[in-house]
Amino acid sequence: LLHACKCFRANALRSPKRNYCAAANEKPLSDSSQEHKFVPFNQLIASRREEAARSIIVQVKSENSSQDLLSYCLNFGEVKNAFYYSLSNNDNRSNFILVEFKDESGSQAALCQSSHSTKECVVPVQSSFLWFRSNLKAPCLKSNVPQLHIQPNTSPSDSQLLELFSKSSSLSEDVLVLYNRLKLSDIATRLRFVCALQLENAFRGMFPASQVLPFGSSVNGFGKINSDLDLVFELTDHQRPQDSRLVFHSKSLLGTSKTHNQRHLETIADVVQYFLPGCTNTRRILRARVPIIRYKHDLTGIECDLSSTNLSGFFMSELLYFFAAYDRRVAPLVFAVRYWAKQTNLTNPAPGKWVTNFTLSLLVLFFLQYEKIIPSIETLVQQRRPQDERVFVDDNGERISCGFLADIDLLKSVGTEPNDDDLSVLLMKFFDFYASFDLRSCAISLNTGTAIMKPVYDPMYIVNPLEKALNVSRNVSVEECERLRMQAREAAWAMECSLGKAKQKWGLTDLIDSHLTNKLSSHRTGGMKGMRNTPKVAVKDLFRDD
Ligand code: CTP
Ligand code: MG
Repeated sequence: LLHACKCFRANALRSPKRNYCAAANEKPLSDSSQEHKFVPFNQLIASRREEAARSIIVQVKSENSSQDLLSYCLNFGEVKNAFYYSLSNNDNRSNFILVEFKDESGSQAALCQSSHSTKECVVPVQSSFLWFRSNLKAPCLKSNVPQLHIQPNTSPSDSQLLELFSKSSSLSEDVLVLYNRLKLSDIATRLRFVCALQLENAFRGMFPASQVLPFGSSVNGFGKINSDLDLVFELTDHQRPQDSRLVFHSKSLLGTSKTHNQRHLETIADVVQYFLPGCTNTRRILRARVPIIRYKHDLTGIECDLSSTNLSGFFMSELLYFFAAYDRRVAPLVFAVRYWAKQTNLTNPAPGKWVTNFTLSLLVLFFLQYEKIIPSIETLVQQRRPQDERVFVDDNGERISCGFLADIDLLKSVGTEPNDDDLSVLLMKFFDFYASFDLRSCAISLNTGTAIMKPVYDPMYIVNPLEKALNVSRNVSVEECERLRMQAREAAWAMECSLGKAKQKWGLTDLIDSHLTNKLSSHRTGGMKGMRNTPKVAVKDLFRDD
């Protein structure tokens, strides 16, 4: 392996650098060594929410209507940015423009001046989703409209990716191509925040302090363009003065925190289903360990999973975001491992006993801790400041405190070591690590950054970094653990064997060669149809009571 690593290192693209462009932080990871300032997670969420409040999404006849629409929007305020995206459904293509005003007064004025359709009976809801009536006789054309940004909002197909890989010169470059082409684009991130705000605004009258926050891969640095949108509805109102003599009359919460959580979600589901434009196919998955409602947002193409109250997933995203930003190799490596796992069928969109993308991200982070490339969570906990304290209410109604340092720039003496392995070397070491890691007797703790004894026998045990009594990978079966090990061994072996060959380039395609060829051929013959159509279900759905 050492020999292999040395040879792969010869292809090194760059030395490790902090990646301050993770996730929704928008700036692309380019091959230049350009660095960006680290934006703490809270600031990022706040600025994306504020940006969403200044934005409206308008369906237009075609991209060519942009000039007309943007000129019309200038009547309400200065337009800062405009993004075009389209959605295809069978043979129909719908076109949209996200208009970002400079100030919230612009979007508010646009909404105040908008009307409801008079042609059909509609629920007269106000939201940021509109359509633009064409006026062919007198299109409104002004010269000072901003340039229309066009960014990818759909993932490339397997064959398009292969085409892209064929143009790169090394495995490391393949991984970067994969990352840059699959990761969430700026427009995809904006759409997610507008979807969250639509829900929040719908309940603002009753719950003025409530927030609907995106979490999971939409914000943690590991999101793909077609990832689902995980949302949490936070009802708690922490901001009120505790000593006021005027107290609101309100209803008592009855039953356990889980039962009232289920009831609230049921009511929210009705509002989503009957009132909110764009939201279709609402499903109530209320008996899961974490009750959620799931719906498709037809005007953004995003599949949404809404849970209520428990912010642990949100804080977990902050933690992952920190690691994604810590070193520029972290996110591309996670993408490569997820891609390999998908192609080798280790992950599966249907719920079950297999590893999930979230589990894979933690496996990569643990491996990087072992390599001393990223610090342990305990290091971050030790260096936390008072403002880093995070509190959430778990599924049993218990308050849990989980502070960790949120600003990378303040991190000192972290116990990591200089490491200039390139992505191909790291990928190879990752496979080698899990080909021999004793999952049977050891649990993985990202808190300590070490393997520990399993507290109970589950085939795969990854300590939940925030709720330490829980196992993140409780669903994974003995067979799937073994398959992971075997596939990792096969991958490490394939990489090692490639070194003896005189072939010019050995890349991701070679790594997943046989699996991908099978998939592409069964795709052509329609063999994978049922599989591809299976709706995506997250790990949180796996622990059903019934
Ligand atoms: N989560 C958690 N504990 C679990 C499962 C999930 O804390 N046992 C949180 C994590 O923050 C995770 C988020 O819920 O990122 C969303 O879960 P999921 O959608 O399954 O994973 P993602 O990371 O969003 O990945 P994907 O792109 O597959 O949606
Ligand atoms: Mg998700």
